[in-house]
Amino acid sequence: NTIPVITLDGPAASGKGTVAELVARELGFHYLDSGALYRIATLAALKAGVDPADSEGLTAVAEKLSPVFENGRILLEGEDVTLAIRSEEVSRATSKVAVVPGVRRALFDLQRRAARAPGLVADGRDMGTVVFPEAPLKVFLTASARVRAERRYKQLTARGETADLDLLTKDLEERDRRDRERAEAPLKPAADARLLDTTEMGIEEAVKKVLDWWTTAR
Ligand code: C5P
Repeated sequence: NTIPVITLDGPAASGKGTVAELVARELGFHYLDSGALYRIATLAALKAGVDPADSEGLTAVAEKLSPVFENGRILLEGEDVTLAIRSEEVSRATSKVAVVPGVRRALFDLQRRAARAPGLVADGRDMGTVVFPEAPLKVFLTASARVRAERRYKQLTARGETADLDLLTKDLEERDRRDRERAEAPLKPAADARLLDTTEMGIEEAVKKVLDWWTTAR
């Protein structure tokens, strides 16, 4: 597989999704939001009434998953779940579902298949370490928990949802801890990843940095 891949990993609300999408657009590459797959699997499990502690049940749901990505919308069995997968309830549950090895295995091929010509920008937690270890450019984004919570707060309130900044900060820290401490594919920079701290950096600057690295990566 010689498809060029750029991986962007990092904690929740570090800006990786926005940066990944803009870099992909700039280069004319495809974009993989791997977190969306974990969110879709989680929503499907919640809808099916599968117990969050039932690893086999969760794995079975993930194996049957066939989401459709269409014009920026996500369809699950014909239903538009674009917004539903971003709720705080689903966010919290997802980091629990994502610790299940069977779920990760079920989603692995879906993610690998996203690497199509002319190239791919993939964002998540284990893109550089597990899913695309051969990627010529791996970036690990960070930002302080407070700044990340403030970003999420703005996203939610812009959507008309109510949000509590302290609660968001706590939720983010808890999700990050779960993502970092799990046995399978924990959140961590690949050995050859470049670190990008966006605490005091705007989106444009972060995008430019990644594009600069890309021109020298190959
Ligand atoms: O990136 P996003 O916040 O949408 O991811 C939601 C959750 O999905 C993360 O907190 C993490 O538990 C899980 N995830 C993962 N591996 C990925 C992407 C997301 O475990 N590659």
